[in-house]
Amino acid sequence: MTGTETLKATEPTGNTGATGTDENPVFSVRNLWKVFGPKAGRVPGSEHASLPPAELREATGCTAAVRDVSFDVRKGEVFVVMGLSGSGKSTLVRCLTRLIEPTSGTLAIDGEDVLAMDRARLRELRRHRAAMVFQHFGLLPHRTVLDNVAYGLEIQGLSKAERRAKATELVAKVGLAGLEDRRPSQLSGGQQQRVGLARALAVDPSVLLFDEPFSALDPLIRREMQDEVVRLHREEGRTMVFITHDLGEALRLGTRIALMRDGGIVQLGTPEEIVGSPADDYVREFVRDVPREQVLTVATAMRPALAGESEHGPAVRPDATVSEAIEAVSRSGDPVARVMDGGRLVGVVDRACLLDVVAGTSAPGGAPAPVPADVASGATEASDAPDAPDAPDGSSEVTL
Ligand SMILES: Nc1ncnc2c1ncn2[C@@H]1O[C@H](COP(=O)(O)OP(=O)(O)OP(=O)(O)O)[C@@H](O)[C@H]1O
Ligand SMILES: [Mg+2]
Repeated sequence: MTGTETLKATEPTGNTGATGTDENPVFSVRNLWKVFGPKAGRVPGSEHASLPPAELREATGCTAAVRDVSFDVRKGEVFVVMGLSGSGKSTLVRCLTRLIEPTSGTLAIDGEDVLAMDRARLRELRRHRAAMVFQHFGLLPHRTVLDNVAYGLEIQGLSKAERRAKATELVAKVGLAGLEDRRPSQLSGGQQQRVGLARALAVDPSVLLFDEPFSALDPLIRREMQDEVVRLHREEGRTMVFITHDLGEALRLGTRIALMRDGGIVQLGTPEEIVGSPADDYVREFVRDVPREQVLTVATAMRPALAGESEHGPAVRPDATVSEAIEAVSRSGDPVARVMDGGRLVGVVDRACLLDVVAGTSAPGGAPAPVPADVASGATEASDAPDAPDAPDGSSEVTL
């Protein structure tokens, strides 16, 4: 790191906020509920709707796996859904393509009402528009890598030669060139997940949905796969909905993060907003051990320049992390770093501002107010309603 104007944030996807607008969201979700249990449809809007999970179960025998959730997934963003085991992540994401049927609410993809789709249209949605990548890969064991990737193209009606050409290209794109003829059992976990990813990409979906895709992988491979997601986001502008219960992964990948608890979204914001302005004690506890200087940006720590401060000191970009600014200031020996946005001085950071971030002694000035949502307390448990998704891995994993 040189402390010059080329200084960059290490994780731009995690710090730049939303890349699109809310005008044309890929998914638009309003007041969505999924209640499991007897007479589930009666729970939303009833006097029981706001009960904590244990009391709701006591009163109605039902579990509200998704509880009055509203959000948009913007074009080109990585929308991370995170929360502890049982908080409703898988149910929420499966509701998006009606692998699980929502109990109430509205849901649109690219402006089209998903709840009004007939079976054929839904099939089309799942095959071509919103491709899912599962934790257990869901590969066809008797098919080669190439054939697994080509599978979605077969359904699309492409000729054999076209399928092979496209699949070969995708296998190379995910770093598996040379392994086209292997079967899934001859691959490592990370390689199998790359095949799963290539297969999902083959249909060029408008959104990729990931349900804890990397949690079965060892840390190094997991990191490589995260890099792959970052690359797909940066280079191809892919829209992704990514479930994880791993905070580090959420902060690293998320353009925005929806933090779930007991079926509701407790806070929805950029990593910087979640870490810098937790909406409540639950979120604060969640992010307590995050190194703030690696997530918060210079833009939130800076102050106006005083007379003479615009002349000296290393230049940093507003989206550089505080940790990078600390490095720049300590290398240069100057008392302040100048925050430059496109050649314009927008503020300075001195040692005190930077240390305040590390110590957590100042609220970041630039972060917008958090978006609180309804918060219920208590723990959720399985209830009884059968609702088998027709997904390759079928079940949700208990991980925490
Ligand atoms: N088919 C079902 N019938 C009854 N309850 C269910 C069903 N599926 C999920 N639930 C309940 O809904 C809640 C949310 O489950 P979900 O699988 O969405 O959680 P999750 O956040 O994905 O958890 P994990 O991190 O363990 O995968 C849990 O209380 C769960 O027991
Ligand atoms: Mg799950």
